[in-house]
Amino acid sequence: MKLLAPSLLSANFANLEKEIETVEAAGADLLHVDVMDGHFVPNITIGIPVVEAIYKVTKLPLDVHLMIENPSRYIKDFIKAGASYISFHVEAEKHIHRTLSFAKEEGAKVGLALNPATPLYLIEDVLELLDFVLIMTVNPGFGGQRFLDFTLRKIKKLKSLIREKELKTLIEVDGGIKLENVKKVLEAGADIIVSGSGIFKNPKENTKKFKEILKRY
Ligand code: DX5
Ligand code: ZN
Repeated sequence: MKLLAPSLLSANFANLEKEIETVEAAGADLLHVDVMDGHFVPNITIGIPVVEAIYKVTKLPLDVHLMIENPSRYIKDFIKAGASYISFHVEAEKHIHRTLSFAKEEGAKVGLALNPATPLYLIEDVLELLDFVLIMTVNPGFGGQRFLDFTLRKIKKLKSLIREKELKTLIEVDGGIKLENVKKVLEAGADIIVSGSGIFKNPKENTKKFKEILKRY
């Protein structure tokens, strides 16, 4: 089953509870929460107290995407705040295996995120330990950017690797995904679809339309 994870980055932050209710009622599977620190990426978004607040108003699992330096310092706190899925960037962490272990100890589903230009081989040795891999399909930092087509190669390659090793690791894709181009990431092998601006311009309708497409895969 393919999963839809609306990215709250494009929601109305002044009315987050209402926005969450809308996508939840329309069939969203996860809520994607983008954490940015102004160091790993140029933008600053939300932190631990906001994740705690979101956790209280939804039954949906929170999929927290850490775009921060030093993820090992914060990862347990984000899980305690309510993250069921958590990912951090390989580019931001020197001790990837240790940080993965921290997250596993807390019982979360753990993923590694890769920027568009980051090669797959950096995660190959720990692929067995991952519940999911987050392939960035734009450069992280902002919503509303254009999908980068060359990332499709990496999604396909990762899919083959997962099949070859007979793993259950899911592939999450994030950035520039809209109703108009979601088919190409699904065909490349994506399992979890993140969409921000592609959903929150019309959250109810777009969530339903995305789910209709996902059902066919
Ligand atoms: C970008 C974030 C994305 C972002 C996607 O750095 O990681 O999750 O919200 O937004 P869209 O779907 O508008 O590209
Ligand atoms: Zn994200």
